[in-house]
Amino acid sequence: MEKQGKKRETFSSGLAIFFATLGSAVGLGNIWKFPYLAGKNGGGAFVFLYLICVLLLGIPIAIGELYIGRKSRKNAVGAFKALKEKPFWSSIGYLGIVAAFLIMFFYSTVAGYVYSYVFKALTGSFANLKNQPTIVAVKTVGNQFDATVGSLMPPVFWQFVALLLVTIVLLAGVKKGIEKVTKTLMPILFILIIICDIRALTLPKASAGLSFLFDVHFSEINIKALVTALGLAFFKLSVGMGTMITYGSYFTKDNNLLGTSVKVALSDTLISLLAGIAIFPAVFQYGMEPAGGPGLLFKTIPLVFSQMPFGNILLLLFFMLTAIAATTAMISLVEVIVVFLNEEKGLTRTAAVLATTSSIFIVGALTVNPASLFGSIKLMGKSFFDIFDSISSNMLLPLGGLLIAIYVGYVAKKEDVTLELSNNGTLNNIALINIILFMLRYVSPFLLILVFLTSVGVIKI
Ligand code: PHE
Repeated sequence: MEKQGKKRETFSSGLAIFFATLGSAVGLGNIWKFPYLAGKNGGGAFVFLYLICVLLLGIPIAIGELYIGRKSRKNAVGAFKALKEKPFWSSIGYLGIVAAFLIMFFYSTVAGYVYSYVFKALTGSFANLKNQPTIVAVKTVGNQFDATVGSLMPPVFWQFVALLLVTIVLLAGVKKGIEKVTKTLMPILFILIIICDIRALTLPKASAGLSFLFDVHFSEINIKALVTALGLAFFKLSVGMGTMITYGSYFTKDNNLLGTSVKVALSDTLISLLAGIAIFPAVFQYGMEPAGGPGLLFKTIPLVFSQMPFGNILLLLFFMLTAIAATTAMISLVEVIVVFLNEEKGLTRTAAVLATTSSIFIVGALTVNPASLFGSIKLMGKSFFDIFDSISSNMLLPLGGLLIAIYVGYVAKKEDVTLELSNNGTLNNIALINIILFMLRYVSPFLLILVFLTSVGVIKI
């Protein structure tokens, strides 16, 4: 395939931009991470902190990134060169490339679990849960999950399949690949989550699940929960690591960047809440542990669905859609690296895609699965899975976000930012732009620094 030369691709319409960006935001973060982190960190209190992080940090920083991307029309590293900034700022892009790799190592592994659950659902592995007494069914799903995670072959095979699909879509390009896939699949995902919610909400103990998710007990708010909520907000909205710079570089000039960011952030948050609503009532209904950790999704969803009419079909569809959500998010993660290699290192797009996905597969498969070669190694008590996850979510993304806030708030010319975000004055949104700039200058950096210093123990509260 030819190099991306003079004519860079863009998405073809506002709707395509919305779905592609939402496709990046919505992923395992909503359906797997959000519920288990909310479960571990006290439910409502965590959800409250999360919403604050999305509003005060996630949205302004997403807008900052889209500004950089669309103005420069370049990859996350090249963007700063194109904007004629000092080389230091390109470090935002390099940090992003590292973060994209680290996230992909564990993300593609979990995506592999999801794919293997699609296969299990397809072959009827959950079919007789319905006939088992609840206690037995809870045990069965628990054992099934442990067996999946504890073995090498099915997960690695499915991880390969997932990465292969990502490769195919990325080889097809921006319009024919990313745009087409996200525009078709995102609406279906939404409908399926709603069906799942309807079932969850009609469970007798639904209200216990809902109060767990929405009742805010302020006593449960602590710094650890705040750091986690912050990391999740960045991870969720795909900000702080150049994905939004990269996707922004494909936005059309007439797109309203503020509007798109807000719509995507709110839709994404809605999907996380809908995933929580699908999962927690069932957790309480079946006496499971809300703080059950990363396995939560893989245990509760088979239980809930297996109890309802046509449950096995819906179960299949639900895991298929989770697989799709994971895949569209992975597409955006890998794209950051691919365009960098293509534009900065002179690889063809094809070579860049193949080199990236195959190295992710090799490292991910060897380090993240407990049953793989290096999977049982622990460094300072942490597995590779946890290390990749916490370094990226809790350090690299917030650090990237901090640098972006400082760059857009203080280094970029206000006039340039205002012109780009108002589409050369045609949008009449100067007041809103000023609010965003105010946040990027005075709110986001200080909140981020405060959270950092507190989490490393410099500030004690
Ligand atoms: N936002 C995606 C999710 O929630 C993950 C992601 C992170 C995608 C960073 C791109 C960049 O699953």
